[in-house]
Amino acid sequence: MYSVALIGCGRISFKHIEAFVKNADIMWLVAVCDPAIERAEEKAREYRVHVGDSAVKIYADYQKMLADCSPDIVTIATESGKHKIIAIDCLNAGCHIICEKPIALSTADADAMNIAAQKNGKKLAICFQNRFNPPVEKLRQVLEAGHFGRLLHGSIQIRWNRSESYYKEAPWRGTWGMDGGTLMNQCIHGIDLLQWVFGDAVRVQAQIRRFLRDIQAEDFGAALIEFKNGAVGIIEGSADVYPANINETLSVFGERGSAVIGGLAVNKIEIWRFADAEKTGDTEKEVLDPYEKDPPTVYGFGHVSLFRDFIAAITENRPPRISGVEGGKALEIVLAIYKSQKTGLPVDLPCDFSTLEMEGYFR
Ligand SMILES: NC(=O)c1ccc[n+]([C@@H]2O[C@H](COP(=O)([O-])OP(=O)(O)OC[C@H]3O[C@@H](n4cnc5c(N)ncnc54)[C@H](O)[C@@H]3O)[C@@H](O)[C@H]2O)c1
Repeated sequence: MYSVALIGCGRISFKHIEAFVKNADIMWLVAVCDPAIERAEEKAREYRVHVGDSAVKIYADYQKMLADCSPDIVTIATESGKHKIIAIDCLNAGCHIICEKPIALSTADADAMNIAAQKNGKKLAICFQNRFNPPVEKLRQVLEAGHFGRLLHGSIQIRWNRSESYYKEAPWRGTWGMDGGTLMNQCIHGIDLLQWVFGDAVRVQAQIRRFLRDIQAEDFGAALIEFKNGAVGIIEGSADVYPANINETLSVFGERGSAVIGGLAVNKIEIWRFADAEKTGDTEKEVLDPYEKDPPTVYGFGHVSLFRDFIAAITENRPPRISGVEGGKALEIVLAIYKSQKTGLPVDLPCDFSTLEMEGYFR
């Protein structure tokens, strides 16, 4: 059993509580922390409702929490711009870390977190929980078995809506210093999936816009990605879609196979056609039904599996499935998109960039 503490008790933290509850056989919550103390109290209550009589401690200051509780694991769900400092403090205090996406807001900060994990001999994982969506896992198996043949092109579409009130209720959202725009916040999950399928990106060319929202960063982005294997990726991401979320769809096209996973948040197989369908174990008709349901929120259920994999990574002394290094890849693509917009040129990867270099871009 591993003790775990949660830092940051806002909008996404209920998914952390759910993952603690559903993994109660291998981890137990010892503390929750948020300077907005009523939020921390609410999370402790949410946990107790499911796990029963448990002594979850409540803190406003994470340094005090680390000193008092010495948890084995800390999960971080604060504003993105705070991930680096909090993660490094916790790693230096001897904790393993599960950090919300994006890992950080600059390549330098992501590198510093990975170095701190390595130096302290601790695990670091990033919450790209959609990699654990059953249809996405299925796609990955078919990919690894070679059923797509040569990969040609693919796309990720995120046609969502984040209203003015979403930004107003937490003023850090949409700022260059703490968040970035919709590509960095909402679309980075899908960008991660695209690069997970197609491999290393080598060049990015982009157009981003701030069409509607009263924020510093973009509410729409489009980009072309060239992958090392010669394949081409297309990104279309919006927070402006009227009147509400429509879809998040990953499309993958290979020489011998086509797959499209859509629904609200890459949870529903829509197209599944392979030349060697007998070898993939299922025809299109067979896979459509079992994967038909959208989850109740766009966050899905992947946190539960991600946290479980993290514990397995500790006990087996292997990297978690989405390590800090792995989680840094989508960050680098989003930063390359920003740099491409700023310079008006294609950007080669690897690239060093920070959201702070976009300060004042949209005036
Ligand atoms: N995995 C996902 O699908 C997903 C979904 C939404 C948000 N996120 C990520 O989760 C993070 C949080 O987003 P959110 O929308 O929940 O934000 P939020 O503003 O709703 O919550 C953040 C919380 O962190 C607290 N906090 C700030 N500084 C702190 C500190 N020093 N110690 C303890 N708590 C502190 C704030 O008081 C606030 O309650 C962001 O990085 C975001 O990108 C991930």
